[in-house]
Amino acid sequence: MKIHRVVLIPGDGIGPEVTQAVQRILEVAGAPLEWEERQAGITALESSGEVLPAETVEAIQRHRLALKGPCSTPISEGFTSVNVQLRQKLKLYSAVRPISSLKGVPTRYQGVDLIIIRENTEGLYSGVENRVTDDVVMSMKISTQTACRRIARWAFRFATQRRRRKITIFHKANIMKLTDGLFLSCAREVQEHDYPNIEYEEVIVDAGCMKLVQDPTQFDMLLLENLYGDVVSDLCAGLVGGLGVVPGANIGDEQAVFEAVHGSAPTIAGKGVANPLALLMSAVMMLEYIAEKRKDESCHEVASRIQKAYLRALADGRKTQDLGGDLNTEAFTEAVIESLG
Ligand code: NAI
Repeated sequence: MKIHRVVLIPGDGIGPEVTQAVQRILEVAGAPLEWEERQAGITALESSGEVLPAETVEAIQRHRLALKGPCSTPISEGFTSVNVQLRQKLKLYSAVRPISSLKGVPTRYQGVDLIIIRENTEGLYSGVENRVTDDVVMSMKISTQTACRRIARWAFRFATQRRRRKITIFHKANIMKLTDGLFLSCAREVQEHDYPNIEYEEVIVDAGCMKLVQDPTQFDMLLLENLYGDVVSDLCAGLVGGLGVVPGANIGDEQAVFEAVHGSAPTIAGKGVANPLALLMSAVMMLEYIAEKRKDESCHEVASRIQKAYLRALADGRKTQDLGGDLNTEAFTEAVIESLG
């Protein structure tokens, strides 16, 4: 059996708790993975003096795969987000976040099944901010034709491979005529030239948020620039049960880093109550990615087994407190392992 080496970044806050739980489930399920643990975030800063050590980046470049716990970022001061640095350094330009209703997780909506694609490398996350005078500070939103075309092509290709029917762009090109205007014109061009069979729609982001909370099932795939993608991802998490159930992948041409959409949740860190499901679902996405990219059917089989197991556990009402259940991290991990059969 082929073994795939994966960089494991435990991260900060609840990161080590959820990564440990996920590693255990993957091991019991027989995932053909071998871990190389590396540090990033506050944990790395404390141990090595750097938030994103070069050896962590090099390890991901070498193995081309990483499973990452959340990393904390200080507010209004301090270092640039490790997550943003990692996405920019490794050119992980596409963030994929599937948002699906789960049986056993009651919410206001049923049958939600949408995929968010977020441009992950530029926009207001370019980090160009400066103080102009004592009174004025500014932040630059940078958009390039290269990145806008690249993410549009990626999204439409993904839609075709996954047999999705429609892509909706959320934008604010009525106000940011140049930057969001470029994002729209690139997407239109790609759709018209190469993907006329995929339905295409443009919605102003504020109206889009209202439509999402009225009826999320009217959307199939959303394509957004960086900041809107960040905000709308959490909004969509709320439609299906919260941050505990939304996985993610950051994908580039060379490597991919899989991580949950949630952060380090400092208020519950160390209490043993964090929900490991979003990271587990991200690990399932990673196994499917390996199966597809490296033509390894065994990864697909393990991914399906794990998916069936967590769905069974949830359907039986065995879930963590954030989802209205009474299990802690360890008990939910055991519930999934028992459901593996
Ligand atoms: P957060 O996602 O950490 O927490 C938001 C809320 O959701 C909190 O009430 C938290 O307790 C709950 N929550 C999140 N994940 C959960 C889980 N697995 N199980 C149970 N409850 C969960 O967002 P917040 O508070 O805005 O950010 C905290 C830190 O995380 C910040 O330093 C932020 O920069 C960082 N962050 C890191 C991300 C990453 O590494 N990809 C993504 C988002 C935030």
